[in-house]
Amino acid sequence: MRTDLAPPQPTRLADYQPPAFSIDTVRLEFALDPAATRVKATLGMRRTEDGPLVLDGTRLKTLSVALDGRPLSDTDYALTDTTLTLTDMPAAFTLETVVELDPSSNTALEGLYLSGGRFCTQCEPEGFRTITWFLDRPDVLSRYTVRIEAGTAFPHLLSNGNKIGEGALDGGRHFAEWEDPFPKPAYLFALVAGELDVLESAFTTMSGREVALRIFVDLGMSPRAEYAMDALKRSMRWDETAYGREYDLDLFMIVAVRDFNFGAMENKGLNIFNSSLLLADPETATDADYERIESVVAHEYFHNWTGDRITCRDWFQLCLKEGFTVYRDQGFSADMRGHAVQRIKDVRLLRARQFPEDDGPLAHPVRPASYLKIDNFYTATIYEKGAELIGVLRALVGEDAFKRGCDLYFTRFDGQAVTMEDFVSCFAEVSGLDLSQHFRWYEQPGTPTLNIDAVYDEAKQELALTLTQAGRSGAGPLPVPVKLGLLDGDGQPQLFSLPGANAPVDEATITLTDASLQLTLTGVERLPVLSALRGFSAPVKLVIDEPQKDAFVRLAADPDLFNRWEAGQDLARDLILRRAAGTPDEVAEERYAEALGRSLADPTADHAFKAVSLSLPSENELAQAVRPVDPQALHDARDALRGRLAVHLGPDLRALHGELQDAGEFSADASAAGRRALRNAALELMVADGTADSTDRATLHLQAALNMTDAMGGLNALSLVGGSAFDDALTAFYEKWQGEPQVIDKWFSVQARSPAADTLGRVLGLTLHPAFDAKNPNRFRALVQGFSSGNPLRFHEPDGAGHRFLTDQILRADAYNPLTASRLIEPLGQWARYTPALAQSMKDQLARIAAHPGVSKNSFELASRALEDAPG
Ligand code: TRP
Ligand code: ZN
Repeated sequence: MRTDLAPPQPTRLADYQPPAFSIDTVRLEFALDPAATRVKATLGMRRTEDGPLVLDGTRLKTLSVALDGRPLSDTDYALTDTTLTLTDMPAAFTLETVVELDPSSNTALEGLYLSGGRFCTQCEPEGFRTITWFLDRPDVLSRYTVRIEAGTAFPHLLSNGNKIGEGALDGGRHFAEWEDPFPKPAYLFALVAGELDVLESAFTTMSGREVALRIFVDLGMSPRAEYAMDALKRSMRWDETAYGREYDLDLFMIVAVRDFNFGAMENKGLNIFNSSLLLADPETATDADYERIESVVAHEYFHNWTGDRITCRDWFQLCLKEGFTVYRDQGFSADMRGHAVQRIKDVRLLRARQFPEDDGPLAHPVRPASYLKIDNFYTATIYEKGAELIGVLRALVGEDAFKRGCDLYFTRFDGQAVTMEDFVSCFAEVSGLDLSQHFRWYEQPGTPTLNIDAVYDEAKQELALTLTQAGRSGAGPLPVPVKLGLLDGDGQPQLFSLPGANAPVDEATITLTDASLQLTLTGVERLPVLSALRGFSAPVKLVIDEPQKDAFVRLAADPDLFNRWEAGQDLARDLILRRAAGTPDEVAEERYAEALGRSLADPTADHAFKAVSLSLPSENELAQAVRPVDPQALHDARDALRGRLAVHLGPDLRALHGELQDAGEFSADASAAGRRALRNAALELMVADGTADSTDRATLHLQAALNMTDAMGGLNALSLVGGSAFDDALTAFYEKWQGEPQVIDKWFSVQARSPAADTLGRVLGLTLHPAFDAKNPNRFRALVQGFSSGNPLRFHEPDGAGHRFLTDQILRADAYNPLTASRLIEPLGQWARYTPALAQSMKDQLARIAAHPGVSKNSFELASRALEDAPG
């Protein structure tokens, strides 16, 4: 570790001070040039507190500074690597700075950079300070005008707001001028310049205003933006009906870029997207891609209110915009694609990514109290758990108060930068409830455990329930809404009465607020099967000591589809863990296979639901359920169960695979996607029988595919089989798709995820492939993260070679793109769960990162925190 250096100083929530100056107006003038761009900033400022003016700036070449039109000499101010300080400022003044930047050498993809020959920006969270001197913090809100000058080789010159002027200049140059009437923090600033195709459309808002919609993409790609455009209009309409939120500018633009560190960015009026989350057509995009595009387009659009109009006071409040916006995009997707399946997918993601984080050394509260690099807190905890906590809040205050609380929030805080306290106070006010206990959810890390103990008294027809919660040591109890219902042994819903209520119900939400709660349900006529935590009503780990037969009843008949799916997952996990422990329960495995067969035949269930029911818990999910984890044993046990299911269900799977073949025109809608999902899930399970016939089917499936969903379904099935069938398919696939970057990303990733014994060697070879470009985050992640997160079996090779490979890649990328590199550290932080040799190997690699000369602050913070023991 870097014990020789002074430890970097954390930023703490407790130290928050309001800014000493406001910046009411900002005028930016860009003279764009790939290697030498000039930025002149004219800031209209006012002093609001005593003290010096300290502006933020990183890697800026400062050419001049002027105060109220008077040039300053370099003795009038103090410059460091990251600050520009001026003292004795008047009450109101204009500060003008001119700096020079080199976008062409910006490989970190933060600030102003070039992607595919175009200028673009990424300012959240602290990229604006790499563009100009500024108070780069979200509570400084300013009105922007922006003038962009560039050569005519850059025909489109875009920024936030409305275009107020454009024209030709001498010397083959031209300009455009933009004005954004809405005050905004610097992190929402954006600029794009270059040659682009545009897809245009329009939207009429609920009050009858016309909004021009433009999506800018690579030349020739505008047909591939049609789906995103459609998703955008549906998002705009949905926000009006679901939240009463109308769009506010006359123009809304989205630009797709190839090189981007994240999914997309909500810059006011000018969203910038990773092109993989925007461009789609049936030939090159899978249904999963369509689904993500729909949800990310919605997410970024919804930020216009939850993020842009109302923003965060400081970065500790990140969940204010992210948790709420994820909650909103999940609601949108549920309305578009079906509530049960959407909930299942959201919870699966939460468990796969957030639960491990919350259970390891990188755990942090949804509202953290300190950080070294705020970049490191764009996590599953802030986003996904943050969204769950909005759902908990809604359950606590009720539907009606939730709606009124949102309305109050939008009117009271419009145009402001606020805190989580401000947000929660709106719901306390409208509901009359004291929500201070709910606030603990935001301050305590860790996933609580919820135990439910149930005792039935047949004579009295009573069910005595004891609910107990346990969090980290020292953490107080949280409010946990538990939605539950009862079935009987035949799966019929049973009525029951809550204490003090006389009308019997078939479902109720009980909120546990103390460490434990006892209550007795009355009027329970038959021996009950408990269906608890329906719809995953709180982000907890549920522990119920139920007889295995109860899980079979729930799997067959729970009217709550989330819990029906969950019952199947519980059973499968249990069966796999028994196999991994060397004590398989073959009788239960047969019963499980039969139950799955019956649910596949259920004519009332939809295809998408059956598809998610067919897939077993992933190896990463299984790793959450045991300690120490032996990845090989888990993989083998899961494979063995898949094999049995494939043999048992073979005829059903083959029948489904035949029946569900797409006919006619491609449709991206949810029901067509559900059909394809089930057919591909059937194929994926089928090949586990190990027969040549199944392999041939997968090969044919791929060859006959008319869309990328089916092509990837086939290739994925073959990756599980391996051997020459997989190799031949890969060769043909590459030949066919080498001109399509988004498809080639999939080609890299499917190889990285293969369970074959030679996968690490293959992955190493692929880092030398001509199409591998480590500087493109999509390509880099497809291969490296595909391997480290998508292939636990090969990543955890017993000799540690997988861990070393990941670390080599992280350190290589850290030198030019710390943001993307450091995000790959997380799986190494899981070391405490693994067998001693693997744990040691993971710790060695973390130590190597932390001690690496010149390591970025991002990677240093994550690697050193990941080395700490997880709090108990
Ligand atoms: N605010 C973006 C979103 O969630 C996330 C994001 C995009 C981001 N680019 C970033 C976060 C760069 C940190 C750094 O919609
Ligand atoms: Zn977001």
